[in-house]
Amino acid sequence: MRTKLVAGNWKMNGSLASNAHLLSALTSGAVASFNAKLAVCVPYPYLSQANLALAGTTIALGAQDVSEHEKGAFTGEVSAAMLMDFGCRYVLVGHSERRSFYGDTDAVVAAKFDAACKAGLVPILCVGESLAEREAGTTLQVVTRQLDAVLAKSGVAALAAAVVAYEPVWAIGTGLTATPAQAQEVHAQIRARIATESIEIAANVQILYGGSMKPSNAAELLCQSDIDGGLIGGAALVAEDFLAIAKAA
Ligand code: PGA
Repeated sequence: MRTKLVAGNWKMNGSLASNAHLLSALTSGAVASFNAKLAVCVPYPYLSQANLALAGTTIALGAQDVSEHEKGAFTGEVSAAMLMDFGCRYVLVGHSERRSFYGDTDAVVAAKFDAACKAGLVPILCVGESLAEREAGTTLQVVTRQLDAVLAKSGVAALAAAVVAYEPVWAIGTGLTATPAQAQEVHAQIRARIATESIEIAANVQILYGGSMKPSNAAELLCQSDIDGGLIGGAALVAEDFLAIAKAA
């Protein structure tokens, strides 16, 4: 039985004052009694604040990106070791906003995934198709290509200490959600692809759904057999909503 994980992706939102409020509402939310594990992926400057606020709680900390390089002359980049220094357990890699706005190719995402694993972080590998790709009937090909880049670089064993998030790009921040059946179908395909390399790892890897998940649709998505949690954007900024989603898991 896979544990559920509900991870918040704060994106480029927050301030010291608003984070203090949100983190305090989350930590006082009786989350230890939930079935799901919780995590929040915060902007780099707030890692220290969140690390302190979450100390001694069951809510894990994550970042939203990581450099593929270990260290050195890479101005503006943040290494996996630095994220470990600030108490991160998770890091998002290959979020669609990174892929589309910042040129993260499949190869770059695979290198970031590999760097995260080597440093002891748990990468949350985001995969997903655009609306045009879905309409062209290429969803499976796109998601498989994104996954295969990581498998080729790090090997299937790396997925034993990683998480996959299926996020259809057309559902991110749009209010459009994949139906539970649409999401379940792709989750099962991702698991089946991994099973061609290792049945055991496929059976154990957590595959999260992301894309306009909110309290009103969380339960029906999270009860699908291959959906092991959620990656939550907008609703993760409202403590009540994020906790309601986590409770539904
Ligand atoms: P959303 O974002 O929940 O606001 O759609 C999800 C994500 O981008 O991870």
